[in-house]
Amino acid sequence: MAEATFIYTRDLRKIYPMGGWNVHALAGLDLDVKRNSLTVVMGPSGSGKSTLLYLLGGLDRPTSGEIRVNGKILEELDENALALYRRHTVGFIFQSFNLVASMTALENVAFPMRFAGIPRRKRKERALELLRQVGLEKHIYHRPTELSGGQQQRVAIARALVNDPPLILADEPTGNLDSASGFSIMQLLAELHQSGRTVLMVTHDSRMTRFSTDIIRLLDGRAVDETEYDSATTLPNLEGTRP
Ligand SMILES: Nc1ncnc2c1ncn2[C@@H]1O[C@H](COP(=O)(O)OP(=O)(O)O)[C@@H](O)[C@H]1O
Ligand SMILES: [Mg+2]
Repeated sequence: MAEATFIYTRDLRKIYPMGGWNVHALAGLDLDVKRNSLTVVMGPSGSGKSTLLYLLGGLDRPTSGEIRVNGKILEELDENALALYRRHTVGFIFQSFNLVASMTALENVAFPMRFAGIPRRKRKERALELLRQVGLEKHIYHRPTELSGGQQQRVAIARALVNDPPLILADEPTGNLDSASGFSIMQLLAELHQSGRTVLMVTHDSRMTRFSTDIIRLLDGRAVDETEYDSATTLPNLEGTRP
């Protein structure tokens, strides 16, 4: 494995048994994601993007195949070690923000630090600092319903950063946003990348590749080249075929 590789997978497979048959969500995926890259994983709905992020984030285990992140072989981690891996290595950002509705922005960001044994005052200080970083210092006492989609995603990004993880995994982070808010979230992810983190985001929106250093294309749980991807995802040109 090359020194510059941060995420490495070989023949990664995830099979979901569904009634009578098996869904091959990941069908033998080989990835080499560079350290400090902003890698965009493109793929249509159902191509295995979320499954991939769950496996890389240690939220689920593969059916077979190897995953190494930052030199760690995930298969060798027991449940405790995997929980520590999730807490210290990975920051997750979801399409639906996943904020706690009854908590303020400040509480949402401070909450995960409870489990890291950080004292209350320190948790608040850190949460404030992060909310300032994402431009929400005026909204710290707002609850999710009192924030726009873009602002909610900023809170979620601040929360993902509490334990200062070297890896950010983002699952269609702009999927629920209008294009202006989506663009500013992309800029924020680009800043995280510039500050030295590895950012892996999945999307089916090709505009989001604008800030990327690397692009991976997924079809049916496999990585494919640009030509194959384009011919499978571009609608045929129907001009002139109408009577
Ligand atoms: N928990 C599950 N049980 C059964 N099938 C699943 C499950 N999660 C995902 N799948 C299936 O695996 C495939 C890939 O899903 P997913 O990773 O969510 O794709 P994407 O995020 O690219 O839309 C799809 O066919 C989906 O229906
Ligand atoms: Mg998905």
